[in-house]
Amino acid sequence: AFSKPVLGIETSCDETGVALLRWQPEAPGAGLLAHVLYSQITLHADYGGVVPELASRDHVRKLLPLVREALAQAGLTPAQLGGVAYTAGPGLVGALLVGAATGRALAWALGVPAIGVHHMEGHLLAPLLEDDPPTPPFVALLVSGGHSLLVEVADIGRYRILGDTLDDAAGEAFDKTAKLMGLPYPGGPALARLAEQGRPGVFRFARPMTDRPGLDFSFSGLKTQVLLAWQSSAQDEQTRADIARAFEEAIVDTLVIKCRRALQATGATRLVIAGGVGANRRLRAALADAGAREGFRTHFPRPAFCTDNGAMIALAGAMRLAHGQHQGEAVAVFPRWDL
Ligand code: KG4
Ligand code: ZN
Repeated sequence: AFSKPVLGIETSCDETGVALLRWQPEAPGAGLLAHVLYSQITLHADYGGVVPELASRDHVRKLLPLVREALAQAGLTPAQLGGVAYTAGPGLVGALLVGAATGRALAWALGVPAIGVHHMEGHLLAPLLEDDPPTPPFVALLVSGGHSLLVEVADIGRYRILGDTLDDAAGEAFDKTAKLMGLPYPGGPALARLAEQGRPGVFRFARPMTDRPGLDFSFSGLKTQVLLAWQSSAQDEQTRADIARAFEEAIVDTLVIKCRRALQATGATRLVIAGGVGANRRLRAALADAGAREGFRTHFPRPAFCTDNGAMIALAGAMRLAHGQHQGEAVAVFPRWDL
C-alpha cells in the first residue's frame, strides 16, 4: 500500500496551490494533511486577464515557500514524503513548467516517485475530498475557465466525454460577459455577486442548444446577447445587476438541462459538479434542487476546492501513485491535453 504523504503542486494558471495528502481509498478527504494557496489575482488585475509570463515568474517566487508552509502545517519534513504530484496540463506552458520542474526535481532529490496529473482529472476527483464521497458510476459536470465538459465516470480513471463546449467554456463566458459590462478581472465571481442584486424577469436570454438533442454546450452567443442588451440600456448599476442575473440564470438553466439529460442517457443516479463555476451559488442550488425533485444525488466540493487548488492534484496524484504509475526524469508538460 502507498501510505506516505504525497505532495501536490498546482501551477497551471494563476493560482499556486500546494497540498499534502495521505492516500486512503475509503475516505480520501480524511487523508488531507495540509493545503495552501496563493492567488495571483492582484498581479493580473491591471491587465484585465492572466499575463502568462507574469504568472510563470510568480509561481517561481511562491512555490517553494508554499511547499515549506504546507509541510509546516502538516508537521512533516521533506524526508517523510512518499511522492510528488504536479499538474502536467492542460494550462499555460510556462506556468505548468514551473510546477513540473520543481516537483520533479524535489522527487528526484528525495528519491521518491513523481507523477504528472491532468488538471481536469484533479477537478473531477475534488468531490472525493468531502465527506460521503461519491462512488462511480457517476456523471461529472466540469465547468471551469477553460472547459465545459460532461463526463461519464464508469470508474476512477475510466472517463467518457458526453458533451463539450463548441466555443467558450462556462467560466470563460462568465469572465468575458463581466468584462464587457466593465467589471474587473476576475469577472466570474464579480458577476455572480452582482447577479444577487439583480431583479428577476427584467431581462431574459436564450438557453443555448437546449431546444435540440445532444449534450454539447455553446456559450458565445449568450455573450453577444448580453452585449446588445447592455449597449442599448441605460448602463446604470441596477441594469448591470439585472443583466448579470438574467445571464447567470441562462447559464445555470442550460447546465441543469444538460446534466439532467446526461443522467437520463447514462442511467446514472449520481452527479458530481466541479471546476471554478461549480462554486457558483445559483448553480449549486439549482442542481441540488433538481436532484431532490428528480431523485439523483449531487456531490459538490467546497467552493475552495471547486476553483484551482493543490489538494485535488495531491489526491489525483496519490491515487495514481498508489496504482503504481509514475513518471521518468524527463519533465514533460501538455498545454493542450484531452481528458
Ligand atoms: O477551475 P478554475 O479555478 O480554473 C480553471 O481551470 O479554469 O475556474 C476558474 C473559472 C473562471 O472562469 C471564474 O470566473 C469561474 O471559474 N468562477 C465562477 C465563480 N467562481 C469562479 N463563475 C461563476 N460563479 C462563481 N462563483
Ligand atoms: Zn482549473
